[in-house]
Amino acid sequence: MRTVIKNLLTKASTGETCRLSGWIRSLRLSKGIAFIVLNDGSNLAGIQIVADQTLANFEEVSHLGTGSALRVTGTLVASPAAGQERELQAQTIEIIGTSDENYPLQKKRHTFEYLRSIAHLRPRSNTFGAVFRLRSKLAQAIHRFFSEKDFLYVHTPIISASDCEGAGELFRVTTLDAGQPPLLNGQPDFSQDFFGQKTGLTVSGQLEGELFALAFGDIYTFGPTFRAENSNTARHASEFWMIEPEMAFADLADDADLAEEFIKYLCRFALEECCEDMAFFDKHVENGLLERIRTVAEAEFARIDYGDAISRLQQSPTSFAYPVEWGLDLQTEHERYITEQVIGGPTFILNYPKDIKAFYMRQNPDGRTVAAMDLLVPKVGEIIGGSQREERLDLLETRMDELGIARDPLWWYRDSRRWGSCPHAGFGLGFERLVMYLSGMENIRDVIPFPRTPRHCEF
Ligand code: 4AD
Ligand code: MG
Repeated sequence: MRTVIKNLLTKASTGETCRLSGWIRSLRLSKGIAFIVLNDGSNLAGIQIVADQTLANFEEVSHLGTGSALRVTGTLVASPAAGQERELQAQTIEIIGTSDENYPLQKKRHTFEYLRSIAHLRPRSNTFGAVFRLRSKLAQAIHRFFSEKDFLYVHTPIISASDCEGAGELFRVTTLDAGQPPLLNGQPDFSQDFFGQKTGLTVSGQLEGELFALAFGDIYTFGPTFRAENSNTARHASEFWMIEPEMAFADLADDADLAEEFIKYLCRFALEECCEDMAFFDKHVENGLLERIRTVAEAEFARIDYGDAISRLQQSPTSFAYPVEWGLDLQTEHERYITEQVIGGPTFILNYPKDIKAFYMRQNPDGRTVAAMDLLVPKVGEIIGGSQREERLDLLETRMDELGIARDPLWWYRDSRRWGSCPHAGFGLGFERLVMYLSGMENIRDVIPFPRTPRHCEF
């Protein structure tokens, strides 16, 4: 059995004999002694292995390349060198898998662009080790948060027949022959398709999540989400993960309260449980990150109306590339201006015009806005989108008609308003945007293991 290096540094005591397995990050020879930094992915620093010429295969070991896989037995000792408390005095080193000078991850610092081109190897680098450890821990923290609050975890379907957001960004799922589909009146006949209708990959689990909220009270989903939007930005991926809580007997203010508590919980979690990796981000990715996250964990999030946000933008001395006018959607430049310049911290924008939001949002008494909310954060812009849902059947159906959304396919959704309907609200947090926010990484391609973006689907 191997000891995990992270545990070796925290749980084992000096003098103990240990067996480790891992990969060489660096190997340095000095006065007939080999100093090897071995990493097994469990922490950032790895551990220093010290091997001298008493080792049977010292000659062979001293010529090993970066990236080689080793199994080492040795004694844990206090390290005389600065920068580490302990090191392993090697007794045996078994060479499991060699490497050579063509290994693309040599010790020097590589650019993120270069590392993206070797996505199959980048998890072995310091930055991506830290990113994917943080990502894994955060996923677990999210389940912990909702479990502590008695939310039911529901797996909503990945193949879906409805376009929840109504933006027409569904990836089609079909078994019809793309070149020669069966035709009906000159159009592909989806009644002959696998599911007997047009289907796609889900853009959101919300509509199905609502059905469960109306049975279990508080629920959440956490799953993969797909959008065929052709936006080549540093914040959009074609496949991403989303967390979507939904609460029955709740309104927009309750929704914002939950979102604020959730984000602060995750900030505190990252600071407390991912210290080594967060310190690395602070030093190498974004100076001041720790201070920024600490501030957010304590801050009171601002809440302003969409109408106020528009006035603030119109009064600003900055000239924006996109127009600012009541009724138009906010662009990333506007969102960042509000959260970075006007407020200087996380900001909820509430009550958007109904014409720029989805059909399911609850209409406000003014007749022109809906009970929507977006949470904007510095650097990232929109991190959460949510709303109170329209629970009144007549208003819901009228709105669907206005938007040209067919009633029949959503019969099940409309049924939920027919029996035991009640006020309810929820939101979606983009998981990659969260990881970006907490790590300081600026490109969504660098916080998801295998990014899918327009024209990119390697592996
Ligand atoms: O604002 P969106 O589109 O809201 C919904 O899908 C609702 N159904 C959520 C709900 O109320 N249950 O998406 C929610 C969040 C965004 O704020 C953003 O963080 C993330 O999902 N997101 C993306 N992340 C990465 N790449 C994309 N293409 C994304 N589109 C949305
Ligand atoms: Mg949105």
